[in-house]
Amino acid sequence: MQNSTSVFKLSIIGFGAVGQGVAKVVQNVPQLKVVAIADSKGVALMPDLEDVLARKRAGQPIANSDLTALDVIRTVEHDVVVEVTPTNIDDGEPGLTHVREALKNKRNVVTSNKGPLVAAFSELTHLARTQGVALRYEATVGGAMPIINLIRDTLAGARVLGIRGVLNGTCNYILTRMAEEALDYDQVLSEAQDMGIAEADPTYDVTGIDTACKVVILANAFFDRNATFADVNVTGIDRITQDALQLARQRGFVVKLIGDVQELTVSPKLIPLRHPLNVSGTLNAASILTDTAGEITVAGKGAGSIETASAILSDVLSIMRSRD
Ligand code: HSE
Repeated sequence: MQNSTSVFKLSIIGFGAVGQGVAKVVQNVPQLKVVAIADSKGVALMPDLEDVLARKRAGQPIANSDLTALDVIRTVEHDVVVEVTPTNIDDGEPGLTHVREALKNKRNVVTSNKGPLVAAFSELTHLARTQGVALRYEATVGGAMPIINLIRDTLAGARVLGIRGVLNGTCNYILTRMAEEALDYDQVLSEAQDMGIAEADPTYDVTGIDTACKVVILANAFFDRNATFADVNVTGIDRITQDALQLARQRGFVVKLIGDVQELTVSPKLIPLRHPLNVSGTLNAASILTDTAGEITVAGKGAGSIETASAILSDVLSIMRSRD
């Protein structure tokens, strides 16, 4: 076993907005060492983080080796694979293979990628258990908003009876700006894309797919559901009209895209103006109903490079601390 003063080594698999955010935040932690970064074009081994970030910004390649992401996962000695490739709802790939291989090779995994967990939650959590390594995924739901570790650790003494919330920052941004400033749907969606909060394919956001993925992850993690995307009844916000939003406002409500974990539903719902789930802009919020602690509502930044990286860093540090 390594001692607490030894360096904790990680790879970053995927170097888009979230991967670059991880490279920035780990620089503040001297015990962490990034041994490899993989993007879609190749692998940088033992990277200088400032240099690869500058290269990425300039649109230059970062690779300095012939290795692939899978070579890194299988053969480069390190403690944690940070898997942050984009979510693919169809089959979870390439993230699913990355996570599976990392666990098979007894590497801990921290991920913000919803695809693998939606496609194969039971398989992956079972594999992590049998291999004696950690699979942590706080960043998959709510970005910087604490929810998974909050329920698992802080609320460990309570039974969770229900979870519902605003789980997609892009939709919340669109609904907020449309309602408050009477702006046009396409204009606000394109702003959300420019801000870097929308998924690579923004239809994942607006049709409710992204929220449904988060509902599946929470249902499997806390309600033992073994659910997949197909089990969720999903309605998005892509057909919401300005008239509907204004009418709701006149009656003292806002329209929010609500994911209900116990019901396995995603749909636009009327929320009273003063309700704690009425958060604006890119914020996410979730209400957790418990048997002994009552209802607890959390809110926070649900998307963004550094915000999502903060949740990943928290998972990495938690694994590092538990190794001793
Ligand atoms: N596109 C997502 C959102 C990012 O807007 O919330 C975080 O999953």
